Amino acid sequence: MTTAFDPIDLAGLRLANRIVMAPMTRSRAYGPGLSPTEAAVAYYGQRASAGLIITEGTQPSPAGQGYPDTPGLHSAEQVAAWRKVTDAVHTAGGRIFAQLMHTGRIGHPSVSPHGLVPVSASPVAPQGRIYTADGPREYVVPVALDEDGIRRTIADHVAAARNAIRAGFDGVEVHGANGYLVHQFLAPNSNLRTDAWGGDHEGRGRFAVELVRAVADAIGADRTGLRISPGNPLGDIDEPDPDPTYLALVRALEEIGPAYLHLTESADRALTLELRKRFSGVLILNARTVGRPSGPEELTLIEDGTADMLSYGALFLANPDLPRRLRAGGPFNTPDRATFYGGDERGYTDYPALDG
Ligand SMILES: Cc1cc2nc3c(=O)[nH]c(=O)nc-3n(C[C@H](O)[C@H](O)[C@H](O)COP(=O)(O)O)c2cc1C
Repeated sequence: MTTAFDPIDLAGLRLANRIVMAPMTRSRAYGPGLSPTEAAVAYYGQRASAGLIITEGTQPSPAGQGYPDTPGLHSAEQVAAWRKVTDAVHTAGGRIFAQLMHTGRIGHPSVSPHGLVPVSASPVAPQGRIYTADGPREYVVPVALDEDGIRRTIADHVAAARNAIRAGFDGVEVHGANGYLVHQFLAPNSNLRTDAWGGDHEGRGRFAVELVRAVADAIGADRTGLRISPGNPLGDIDEPDPDPTYLALVRALEEIGPAYLHLTESADRALTLELRKRFSGVLILNARTVGRPSGPEELTLIEDGTADMLSYGALFLANPDLPRRLRAGGPFNTPDRATFYGGDERGYTDYPALDG
């Protein structure tokens, strides 16, 4: 029987186990250069016993930044700073992909370092408020990307993916989940387009497909992953009937052959099983859990073949040696929500490993 602690081949890359550190924004890339700091080098290095680390959401361009102090992958300074992170992880025997996150309409001119108005598939503002330096503010109506804007945005992702390889990453994950730009194209309430980038299931999925194709063409399909979250209402997304959209998406992905599909399970398990059947690459599952972070209970999902790998968010944040603790059945440090976003080393690099 395969367990989460067995190695796995990810498109030719041998991973020590099937436990993935899920991407987590930590908003600690202080300074005008928006680069990972020395503390980030320590943070990721501490977590190198993951089979695979996926970094925090990293903007491929200034226009893609929706939160304060998130790192980018669009300058030489950022590439040099990320190189220290990838070196630390590789030296400790780990593997690391960079998550490319363009937040689209989840942003605000006062959060953007250049005062940019957010862009999206259509000029539809999400309901709700965003936290800014001046306190909570209503979201603004985003600018709908025209054909040139779409091409430019894809090109920005390609450039960032090339930068990721230059920085020593083992690959990149395109963020197509959780209500950000790619998800805004996929969902019918945020994509009202009537051109080739909207309309039916294939049209709404086209941005995701073209983006993954362009990144795969640039750095290799074996170095490219995609994260999706069918039915996830984050960011005011409403997908009442996600199945046909995501089945069409996976059909198109099969022609490209990305290394993995990282599925954040928000809809029912039946869709997870269907996507698994139809996707021939590695399936990383961020299992749906209600009222608690994923934990040891989910390990059976590898054993029963539901997924190839499992990603852990909050528990990996709080337990730098999570694979070892999962194997031992605990104990686990408790994640401190107050230090998730921003702050100093507290709640970042000071969670103890079992040995102290
Ligand atoms: C502090 C924090 C930041 C997160 N930032 C991101 C992110 O940048 N990109 C992303 O795809 N998901 C992000 N997530 C979602 C996690 O990747 C994961 O899906 C979520 O925590 C649920 O998994 P869990 O139950 O194991 O914590 C974040 C979660 C947390 C707790």
